[in-house]
Amino acid sequence: MTLALDRSTETAAAVPAVAGAALRVPLVTGGDIGYANLDHAASAPCLDAVRSAVDEFLPWYASVHRGAGFASQVSTRLYERTRDVLRRFVDARNGDSVIFTRNTTDAFNLLAKALPRKTSVVVFDSEHHAALLPWRGPNVRRVQLPRTRLAAVSVVDEALAECPQGPRLVVVAGASNVTGELLPVAEIAAVARKHGARVALDAAQLAPHRRISVRELDVDYVALSGHKLYAPFGAGALIGRGDWLRAAEPYLAGGGATKLVTEEAVVWNSGEERHEAGSPNTVGVYALGVACEQLSAHWDALRAHEAALLERLRKGLEGLPGFAELRFFDAPVDRVGTVSFVVEGFEPGWLAAVLSAEYGIGVRDGAFCAHVAARRLLREAGSEAQQAVRVSLGLGNTEEHVDRLVLALRQIVARGARWEYAKVDGRWAPVGDTRELPGFCA
Ligand SMILES: Cc1ncc(COP(=O)(O)O)c(C=O)c1O
Repeated sequence: MTLALDRSTETAAAVPAVAGAALRVPLVTGGDIGYANLDHAASAPCLDAVRSAVDEFLPWYASVHRGAGFASQVSTRLYERTRDVLRRFVDARNGDSVIFTRNTTDAFNLLAKALPRKTSVVVFDSEHHAALLPWRGPNVRRVQLPRTRLAAVSVVDEALAECPQGPRLVVVAGASNVTGELLPVAEIAAVARKHGARVALDAAQLAPHRRISVRELDVDYVALSGHKLYAPFGAGALIGRGDWLRAAEPYLAGGGATKLVTEEAVVWNSGEERHEAGSPNTVGVYALGVACEQLSAHWDALRAHEAALLERLRKGLEGLPGFAELRFFDAPVDRVGTVSFVVEGFEPGWLAAVLSAEYGIGVRDGAFCAHVAARRLLREAGSEAQQAVRVSLGLGNTEEHVDRLVLALRQIVARGARWEYAKVDGRWAPVGDTRELPGFCA
């Protein structure tokens, strides 16, 4: 049997390669070009190592937990072992639960359902909708993220001081999906402790770029998504303190979450399975674990790679006529490789369409599922636009991608597009586009 169960000992080298690095896409103006995927913050490409691990595993893939067959034992072992991989990945406390979910959104919805009655929740308005919307009711306090990190900590302090007695939770992103800026998580956690509050870290944008330590940050829960962590097979996780989770109603009712079902009663599992009813996504979970191990083995190279690209990008964008970047904080802060901006006189959706059709560059346009925050930042940047363009860097990028983007923006601003565009179903698209999608889309 060649199936490798432990990849954590692989030695660090250059940054791990991703699937699609050699992908070429057709241009509306004719010919094709290497795809520049500058949209890692939405979904990152699959790591090559993840793809080959999944390929190696697939012949062994079988039912987990209740299957008696040998392949079921292999699958069960990989599935359960990945809980430890995730615990290590975020440096969780001994005994922290690791519940597999579909993604961060799912993880926060699960946590929201598991909160003790009358839990007060404090959350910044800058959060992604996944971290902003699951908390409902009169005990939720949305606070505006101020323009300094220090003030952000004070705002949480004040909001917690006004909360009624009882359980309290602060929800905060590690890194903003709009601006890439890192939030002062450890400082917020320290203030939360003072008020007896717990902290849930939205690590969807932080985990692909920075080592996370639950113990050092002193947070209670971490939510993350595999598809942003180079493992796009549909798994995510909620990691954290087990007491509220064990006491809560199962997230979903069904098989796997139960110990015993009789005509009269149901005895639910008390461990992680309590919230994992239904057949689990074993392949996705395994892929997520492999990705976490890969990133853990390459942090130094990854950070150096992304920092160099980010600096190149920022230098390139400096001085672009009409360019305004969205930022929460006045002073420069540590950040991941995500930059959102507007260019005066150019609609973001149109710019994104031109970058794609004429330059083979994939970026995101919109309000990035953070509508409240994006609108405010646009106003503060002096723009009347309701949306922005977002460029987000990761392992799939090269210097050429960044240079191409910068050159493309300069050309578009200087002389416009070479093609004609019109809105189709509310989105800009090239007129008379004859490019065909690959055959497997038919
Ligand atoms: C900061 C942040 N939190 C949560 C999410 C939600 O992640 P998912 O769509 O994987 O549930 C995202 C997705 O973009 C995000 O950027």
